[in-house]
Amino acid sequence: MSVEEFLRPINHSETLLINERSDALEQARRVFRFGFGQSPFPVPASVTAALEAHAGEKAYMPVQGWRPLRDAVAAFHRQQDGVDWQSQRVLIGPGSKLLIYAVMAAFTEADVLLVSPSWVSYEPQARLAGHAVFRLQTSAEQHWRLSAEQLEIFCSQRANPERPLILVLNYPGNPSGTTYSEAQLRALAAVLQRYGVLVISDEIYGMLHHQGEHRSLARYYPEGTLVTGGLSKWCGAGGWRLGVMHVPEALAPALMPRLLGVASETWSCVTAPVQHAAEVAYAFGEEVEHYVARERLVLSRIGSRAAESLQQAGVATALPEGGFYLFPDFAAWRQTLAERGIHTSDQLCERLLEEAGVALLPGTAFGMPADQLVVRLSYVNFDGAAALNADTEELDRLSMPVMEGLEAIRLWLVGQQQVAA
Ligand SMILES: Cc1ncc(COP(=O)(O)O)c(C=O)c1O
Repeated sequence: MSVEEFLRPINHSETLLINERSDALEQARRVFRFGFGQSPFPVPASVTAALEAHAGEKAYMPVQGWRPLRDAVAAFHRQQDGVDWQSQRVLIGPGSKLLIYAVMAAFTEADVLLVSPSWVSYEPQARLAGHAVFRLQTSAEQHWRLSAEQLEIFCSQRANPERPLILVLNYPGNPSGTTYSEAQLRALAAVLQRYGVLVISDEIYGMLHHQGEHRSLARYYPEGTLVTGGLSKWCGAGGWRLGVMHVPEALAPALMPRLLGVASETWSCVTAPVQHAAEVAYAFGEEVEHYVARERLVLSRIGSRAAESLQQAGVATALPEGGFYLFPDFAAWRQTLAERGIHTSDQLCERLLEEAGVALLPGTAFGMPADQLVVRLSYVNFDGAAALNADTEELDRLSMPVMEGLEAIRLWLVGQQQVAA
């Protein structure tokens, strides 16, 4: 029996695949692992201790999430973001990825609007849920930000304006590394309000704004913004699988029962010990607060040095504002690379991996047109535990694997130029 023709067109997420590929290649040569977006920092000691202390908790937890944790999460976001998070409208899930999917799955029909570039999983999730996907292309000049004008044009020209529109916005951005100013958010909010757009504001990197100045979209468009976050990035606990979401008051009566329906029929609850540990993280005591301040400092220093090094090599790269990604644009090298048979970001990544041992992800994985020579670089291949306690000099020494990888890119580019000449 062949089932092939009845299967959905869905494949292994590219971000996870690159890690497996780097592992294999590393047997033979040095690999600069810029491909995988995982926090380099250990989980704070008090949070790990809470996990250990609660390892014996074995009972199922409430589907919506353990009440003391929801209280802590709501208080944390009220304090950090100046927004009205209420614990009865917080949903705890096994990663924000599944919470985003739960929103998509709650709708029988919707149009999903994505920004290009944006995170790899939004489009497959929307398609799995049976929704049509639309994309708005941003540019290096705009630092990969969606403008209010672009949004206005799209909203005013929709073929089926009666159908719900879900915009997924993510900032600080993966892969862009950039974020939005208050003025830009206000301008977007005005359009979103006018057209009644439902927004999933993926703010998983909000706490890793390098200056600690993240502004939640919920401040400017509270009635239509679902905010997602979690422990994966700022708390270094991606593998623990704990995400959070806040549902706005206006949408809660209709949406919350459906989201709880999806949660109860799929994941049931997040692991009990992890919820206990998360309560300690979200209580945001002195140790955790200091840890986040150090993370910001380290990422800011390494990220801006990395961006400057790429700029010096003639690769246009916006200075990072949050998170741990850069999205370099090799457009200035287009002709040289074309002479070497490289016309797409996929080819560029393939050749950089094979010839220079540099693992990156192609722009195509983030919805960029194939012929745009953009790649995502995660500058996390350094010792995060040591960096948390390092002075500036020590930090520069610890960031050597990042800087050496960038030098490998520069030398490879120069080599292409020489062969092409
Ligand atoms: C933009 C973005 N959103 C969501 C996620 C998923 O995070 P979680 O571990 O909470 O599922 C990631 C993780 O890579 C991400 O980069």
